[in-house]
Amino acid sequence: MGDKKDAPRRSQAWFGRQDRDGFIYRSWMKNRGIPHDQFDGRPVIGICNTYSELTPCNSHFRTLAEQVKIGVWEAGGFPLEFPVMSLGETLLRPTAMLFRNLASMDVEESIRGNPIDGVVLLCGCDKTTPSLVMGAASCDLPAIVVSGGPMLNGKFCGRDIGSGTDVWRFSEDVKAGRMSMEQFLEAEGGMSRSAGSCMVMGTASTMASMVEALGLTLPYNAALPAVDARRYALAHASGRRVVDLVQQDVRISKILTREAFENAIRVNGAIGGSTNAVIHHLAIAGRAEIPVSLDDWDTLGRDVPTLVDLMPSGRFLMEDFHYAGGLPAVLRALGENGLLHRDALTVSGRTVWENCREAPTWNQDVIRPPARPLTAHGGIAVLRGNLAPDGAVLKPSAASPHLMRHRGRAVVFDNIEHYKARIADPGIDVDPTCVLVLRNCGPVGSPGMAEVGNLGLPPALLRQGVTDMVRISDARMSGTAYGTVVLHACPEAAVGGPLALVRDGDIIELDVEARRLRLDVSDEMLERRRSEWTPPGTLQSGGYLQLYLRHVMQADKGADLDFLRGCRGHAVPRESH
Ligand code: FES
Repeated sequence: MGDKKDAPRRSQAWFGRQDRDGFIYRSWMKNRGIPHDQFDGRPVIGICNTYSELTPCNSHFRTLAEQVKIGVWEAGGFPLEFPVMSLGETLLRPTAMLFRNLASMDVEESIRGNPIDGVVLLCGCDKTTPSLVMGAASCDLPAIVVSGGPMLNGKFCGRDIGSGTDVWRFSEDVKAGRMSMEQFLEAEGGMSRSAGSCMVMGTASTMASMVEALGLTLPYNAALPAVDARRYALAHASGRRVVDLVQQDVRISKILTREAFENAIRVNGAIGGSTNAVIHHLAIAGRAEIPVSLDDWDTLGRDVPTLVDLMPSGRFLMEDFHYAGGLPAVLRALGENGLLHRDALTVSGRTVWENCREAPTWNQDVIRPPARPLTAHGGIAVLRGNLAPDGAVLKPSAASPHLMRHRGRAVVFDNIEHYKARIADPGIDVDPTCVLVLRNCGPVGSPGMAEVGNLGLPPALLRQGVTDMVRISDARMSGTAYGTVVLHACPEAAVGGPLALVRDGDIIELDVEARRLRLDVSDEMLERRRSEWTPPGTLQSGGYLQLYLRHVMQADKGADLDFLRGCRGHAVPRESH
């Protein structure tokens, strides 16, 4: 890479001026005791921080930011930390996903509007990763991601328990009478034992792996535990490295190539990643102006074996994953089997293959060899048919093999409130072969596309020992969840998608191998039902919700706002003093 040290810094449009406005730009900054020579043209590095006490997964980010700053200072840069909207998955209502695009706007405008030459993105809890990367991609400055890392393994009754994944299990056990409320509350304390994000291969860990696969992080970012000293060393090294990226003008668009997105799809298959990754990946690609479609997920991920044996698909947790070799070991296995674009550039300055070709695997139970995978065909299955003409997704590694080809009678829930009221009714007509259908939970219907697709099973069936049923919705599912769950059906019911036309008793056919999702009802009958269909009531809204409802796209387009797609660059905005 050529050294472009002599190129004028973007930040000099503020700090390099010898006039009244230069005085203003520097003088107020000097109120922190910053010496004059810091404004001499050295790279100004923004540290985009999603620290918030309302986002417990990111609660250690002040320390992480300090480590980044040390690295930036050492490399001759000038670090300036700034906050952006933080999206805590556990507390934020109605769902953090509703605000992912809003947070990305905050990131984009904060970067563009300030004297920043390069940026470090501190990402952690699920939506903070896509929102920061989307915002940065729309600006196209040099950028490097530092993830917060996963929590230590959860512990309960002498065994490991996983964030979220075991909550779903425990909750079903309580309903089925297999677990007491006292035990349930005891497990609560053992699940979240340290700072960091969910330590299963849920959405946060999937997205941390995705950004490493995209080349946006230094190696080992995905799985290093949040409280491992080496996480702080990685933050420190990232601070140093981003200064080089600015000096060499390696902007994020040089990293986010079609090859990088293909690598990320394959990595998702190899790690048994979350279905949420599909939506975020498509949204990031839309910002980077790289053509990626939902079908790419099926085509590229179909023959990728799932190598990482982590919950919710498997047995282990993120701490185990790191000790077993972390993501570089997975990348190496993919690279040795023709499933990686080896030449894709990463922020380390090396290619992805140069980063991983000698990466060891220390535990082949956690990171399995390709000859002994957890699932031979991992990845995400993209289903189509008259029930989802624009596609729906299913994660085969989290589904039950005996339900992958299934015909069953529909039991329909019009929304999540209807589901809650009806599922508890002891008189509900349902058996284990039925297909539970939930609608009006998509990007518009919910709104925000709630993570409710993994509907709990009817209590009476749980007591009989039923552990899985086919479920179909236009909703999302937590990355920590599991089951034979068809998600993201497009177009969604609230905008007139075919899910709106299903009635109790209709026969639905799912064939994952054939990638088919079909409602066994004639076209004529569906047309008649469509003519009788009325959209669900319009939400009384104003503010951001109104903007969102007018502009949100469907899941197959990443559920971004239509006017946010694309890269608007980092031209210095006009001043108004
Ligand atoms: Fe924050 Fe799972 S709730 S990562």
